[in-house]
Amino acid sequence: MAETTNWTPESWRARPLVQMPDYPDADALARVETKLRNYPPLVFAGEARSLKRSLAEVAEGHAFLLQGGDCAESFADFHPNTIRDTFRILLQMAVVLTFGGAIPVVKVGRMAGQFAKPRSANTEIIEGTEYPSYRGDMINGPEVTMDARVPDPDRLVQAYNQSASTLNLLRAFAQGGYANLRAVHQWNLDFLADTPQAHRYNDLANRIDEAMSFMAACGVTPDLVTQMRETSFFTSHEALHLTYEQALTRVDSTTGDWYDCSAHMLWIGDRTRQIDGAHVEFLRGVGNPLGVKAGPSMPVDDLLRLCDILNPENEPGRLTVIARMGAEQVTEKLPPLVRALKAEGRKVVWSCDPMHGNTEKVSSGLKTRDFDRILAEVRGFFAVHAAEGTHAGGVHFELTGKNVTECIGGASAVTEATLGDRYETACDPRLNADQSLELAFLISGHLKAERDKKRNAQRPNGK
Ligand code: PEP
Ligand code: CO
Repeated sequence: MAETTNWTPESWRARPLVQMPDYPDADALARVETKLRNYPPLVFAGEARSLKRSLAEVAEGHAFLLQGGDCAESFADFHPNTIRDTFRILLQMAVVLTFGGAIPVVKVGRMAGQFAKPRSANTEIIEGTEYPSYRGDMINGPEVTMDARVPDPDRLVQAYNQSASTLNLLRAFAQGGYANLRAVHQWNLDFLADTPQAHRYNDLANRIDEAMSFMAACGVTPDLVTQMRETSFFTSHEALHLTYEQALTRVDSTTGDWYDCSAHMLWIGDRTRQIDGAHVEFLRGVGNPLGVKAGPSMPVDDLLRLCDILNPENEPGRLTVIARMGAEQVTEKLPPLVRALKAEGRKVVWSCDPMHGNTEKVSSGLKTRDFDRILAEVRGFFAVHAAEGTHAGGVHFELTGKNVTECIGGASAVTEATLGDRYETACDPRLNADQSLELAFLISGHLKAERDKKRNAQRPNGK
């Protein structure tokens, strides 16, 4: 249960608040809040608790967390195929990880609510004119006009509606037959057909098919075993827009606890993790599993304080620390945090976001990420946990199932020159499907090494 001393759904309003828009019409915002408060919850408390139980398995070293999706979902890109392709690449990655690592994979989308973005500056200069920054489709529009950049409360309703239909489709995909292991070959995306990753994936799918046929001959089939024909898929987003989050926060009738029913899991960004700030105050009171981003500027003491505040009962599965140090800093900045939490017996999930510490701008002005640096941060993350004897619990990616050209490198060799070909993100550069699969294979190798090390340690005489 969450620590709720002196907490109310609006106690955050008395705390310093950063990264929230200024709405020109406060009455219009209040009307939207009332409307959202009367809308149905998007998820149920019982589902959030079920994710927390799965994450507890991750915290104990028995499972792995795969979290991913758009940097920012977009109203303009809203299409069933976009949702399907992201779901599909996450399923493929999960199969690669489950098979290679022989470990259950907890799947969480950055989907169905990821619409608000923290920004480094309130305004930006475009061709000599200063505009308010774009803060995500839930707040204002990305178009470069003064009108589009004015925060509009009606966008909160549109974000809610888009989240509801996205979630509806995700639930259908997860439980309606699409995720049946019999379809493992069909998840391969058409445009991937001839890449090295697709061949690797096909080999793996053939081996799964064989195993399935063997099990069917023994009488075990997807018709009999739910886990073979359905999957669990959860949603998450950064809990940035606290007015929206508060409006969707409800008392769970079975436990009497508060849950933020806008998503199963919510996280606090690296820019809004101030100990006394509004975001930490709001999230400490809801029962959902929480994430907190930890960038290179995270002091050890702050992380310990965040554990006290957000997870006072040291409940495994409640808190995921998402480290985003950057390839160059991960092996220096992560170990002190891991050591301190281990020394104090704090049960957290350690996850690696290799995206946000590795963003750069190329001469054309586009933001990109170098695939080699992303790989290097993931490798560094696994190396740190191997050295500290802790579980490298998960990964957090910005990715899409589409064939975009936003991150440089990888087997499909996106270059600075081809970056503009299919650069479609509403915010940060995402891994495309090919790059995502390549990463999944790399991680499955690390998981296998971690498993082998554990097994050897358990054998008498170390054999
Ligand atoms: C994000 O996840 O999109 C983000 C802004 O990350 P961070 O808070 O780690 O910078
Ligand atoms: Co981002």
